[in-house]
Amino acid sequence: MSFRYNPTHGNYTEPFYLTILIVYLVNYNVENSIKDDIKKKYSKIVVSGNTDCCCMPGECESGDSPIDATKLIGYNQKDLESIPEEAILGVGCGAPINHANLKEGETVVDLGSGAGIDIFLAAKKVLDSGKAIGIDMTDQMLEKARENALKGNYSNVEFKKGDIEDNIPLNHNSVDAVISNCVINLTMNKTNAFKEVFRILRKNGRMVISDLITDVELPPGEINSDQWCECIYGALTKENYLLCIKQAGFEKIEIMEERAYMDGEKVNGRKISSLVIKAIK
Ligand SMILES: C[S@@+](CC[C@H](N)C(=O)[O-])C[C@H]1O[C@@H](n2cnc3c(N)ncnc32)[C@H](O)[C@@H]1O
Repeated sequence: MSFRYNPTHGNYTEPFYLTILIVYLVNYNVENSIKDDIKKKYSKIVVSGNTDCCCMPGECESGDSPIDATKLIGYNQKDLESIPEEAILGVGCGAPINHANLKEGETVVDLGSGAGIDIFLAAKKVLDSGKAIGIDMTDQMLEKARENALKGNYSNVEFKKGDIEDNIPLNHNSVDAVISNCVINLTMNKTNAFKEVFRILRKNGRMVISDLITDVELPPGEINSDQWCECIYGALTKENYLLCIKQAGFEKIEIMEERAYMDGEKVNGRKISSLVIKAIK
């Protein structure tokens, strides 16, 4: 279909609008199907473990327990023993909490909080005068996280439902720190997610996130909703990832850690690395 400009009326003729509508509907359907699959796969993890290998730091079949997989990415055994065991799913790709420097009284938000691992660790740092708020779009994850909060008797945590690239259910300029572990790669529009982070952070607030990047991005036509949950098919190059953070308004951006993911093995010809990034509003 061609784009035809109508010089008499100074606008485009019908085929142009039709093309836009079709492209919009196709994108809308692809995005919704990917999001539905993410929700299905992460719901399944809550019930029967990570049998689909979503965001696994070791080789999926290696049989690493969620705790062993979590230690591999930088968490400390003693810290893990201090939180409810069922909050540890082994689906992160770094330990952003180690770089967040959380202090008593602060409000911290974890994007894609899963069963609550980083929220429970953060709650111990911000103490009762602070607050740790987890955001997730998957109902079963929220249910499990809230159950874990009750078991651990946490009084300074809260879990809210929300899509982080659409609308984080928090006010503008309301939080001191945002953390996230291996979640932004799952979003369709990374810049939108970072804009949401920028919106909720107070001035001088910090974002500390871990995520996966690749040396070669997957062409849009090859996107497969079934594979997206593995955290590597939606990964961007480092250059594009940092560009999305800049486009959201962040200025001071620092790479705190960078390491090869899955022992440096290529996945379908693509090299995957994990990053911990800090950015200040
Ligand atoms: C790889 S898991 C990480 C969970 C947790 N951060 C951890 O380390 O255990 C990804 C989580 O992000 C959630 N998620 C994915 N996309 C999301 C979105 N657009 N908005 C909110 N949550 C999302 C999933 O439901 C899932 O719980």
